[in-house]
Formats: sequence, structure tokens, C-alpha cells
Amino acid sequence: MNLIIFGPPGAGKGTQSSFIVSKYKLFQLSTGEILRNEIKNKTNLGVKIQSIMNSGSLVLDDDVSKLLEKFILNKEYANKFIFDGYPRNLAQAKNLEILLSKYGQKIDLVLKLSVSLDVIKKRISGRSVCSICGKIYNDFFNPAPINSNCCSSKFLQKRTDDTLDIAVKRFQTYENNTKPIIDFYKKLDLLKVVNGEAPISQINVEISGLIDSIEG
Ligand code: AP5
Repeated sequence: MNLIIFGPPGAGKGTQSSFIVSKYKLFQLSTGEILRNEIKNKTNLGVKIQSIMNSGSLVLDDDVSKLLEKFILNKEYANKFIFDGYPRNLAQAKNLEILLSKYGQKIDLVLKLSVSLDVIKKRISGRSVCSICGKIYNDFFNPAPINSNCCSSKFLQKRTDDTLDIAVKRFQTYENNTKPIIDFYKKLDLLKVVNGEAPISQINVEISGLIDSIEG
């Protein structure tokens, strides 16, 4: 089973992906995370994309596609993908179909989390990520545990693109590209829309129901 989790910045894609990964033993392929690692490791690509990511725009399709294929060709992950942050435009959606079919795979379900810009602003301004285990927290909605060795405040980090200005730009980038992707997956009868403003645990339950229904 391969899934896509789709939605605006701060919609909860990463939060829900980590739940799906542990429940269904899937592999989360977050293009944002892969690109941030390129920046952290100061690779040629990382140097090239740093300013693009900090402006809220999209990295070039070809650059993301090359990174993506390295994972898709790995048999260990075959039919276990949850694509988080890919595709982000129609060209990427079509490219994903081509790449998957090249390796004998397909998408089984597309989950779209719907969240308004007002909610997103608050989520992004409150977000922190544990630099040790990668767990995602939120000062307002989902605070890190106080008595934890791993996720204590000294290990919590803010993302450089999590300022209000860049978040609004990221939201606009998302809005400008979304409709063709939605239409594409509607035609393939793969799209399920989930209310991303519900509590995290309630969304877990709804998503589980949708996955269970396609697993039969
Ligand atoms: P990426 O890392 O993918 O960022 P994004 O799409 O903007 O999404 P986020 O990671 O910000 O949010 P999320 O939906 O995962 O929310 P989260 O679970 O953390 O991409 C970053 C950049 O990389 C892009 O701008 C672009 O430049 C580049 N890029 C990436 N992919 C690309 C591609 N395919 N092509 C080209 N460029 C690409 O939750 C957010 C917060 O809310 C957390 O604090 C969480 O605790 C909280 N929260 C979550 N759910 C709930 C809830 N239900 N109720 C209350 N709080 C909640």
C-alpha cells in the first residue's frame, strides 16, 4: 500500500504520518525533511536550495525528483510509502505516477488534510521539533513532555522557515498549485478529504478507518 498525505503547511502531515508509520509499518518519505538534510549536510544541492526554501517557494521539480527516485527504487520500501510533501504540483503528481509504475507500484490512497490559514499561522508559530528523535510538538496544542530526557527544551528546535511571513508565502504557494492536483486524484478516485482542524487523536481514528477500508 502506498499513500499520499497532502495539505497546506502546518496541516499536520508530519504529525499524522508518524502515527501511520508506526501503526501500519510504512515508510515516511518527507521531501521537506530530505531537502532540509541536504541543507544541513551542506551538499551542492543544499547550498542551492537554502534560499528557495526560506522564501516559501518550491525547489525545482527535477532536483526533488532525483532525490525521490533513490528511495522509490529501493525494494525495501516497495509498497510501503507514505509520501509527505510530494507531489506539490501537477507535474510532480504525473511524475510520481511514472516513477511508481517504472518500479511496478501505484498510489492506493490520497489523504487531504483541510486547514484554514488562521489555524495554520498559530500551528506554525507554536511548532518545535526534537533534534534527537524528530518528534513534532506545539506550544499551544501539543506541548513536549516536561520530564523527558530526549525531548527536553534544550533539544527542541524551530524551523528557519517557520516565521509568520514565510508561512503565509508557503500557504500561497500551496493554494496556487492545489486545484490541479486535487482534480487529478479525484479523476483517479483516490482522494479522501479529512478535517485537519479536528484534534490530533480524532484525525488518527478517521485516517485509520480510511486506510482499513482500502486494505479490505
Ligand atoms: P515541508 O517540510 O513539506 O513543509 P510543509 O508542507 O510546509 O509542511 P509542514 O512540515 O510545515 O507541516 P505539516 O503539515 O507536516 O504539519 P506538522 O505535522 O508539522 O516543506 C518545506 C519546504 O521544502 C517547502 O516550502 C519547499 O520549499 C520545499 N519542498 C518540500 N517538498 C517539496 C516538493 N515536493 N517540491 C518542491 N519543494 C519542496 O504540524 C504543524 C504543527 O501543528 C505542529 O506543531 C503540530 O504539533 C501541530 N498539529 C498538527 N496537527 C494538529 C491538530 N490536529 N491539532 C492541533 N495541532 C496540530
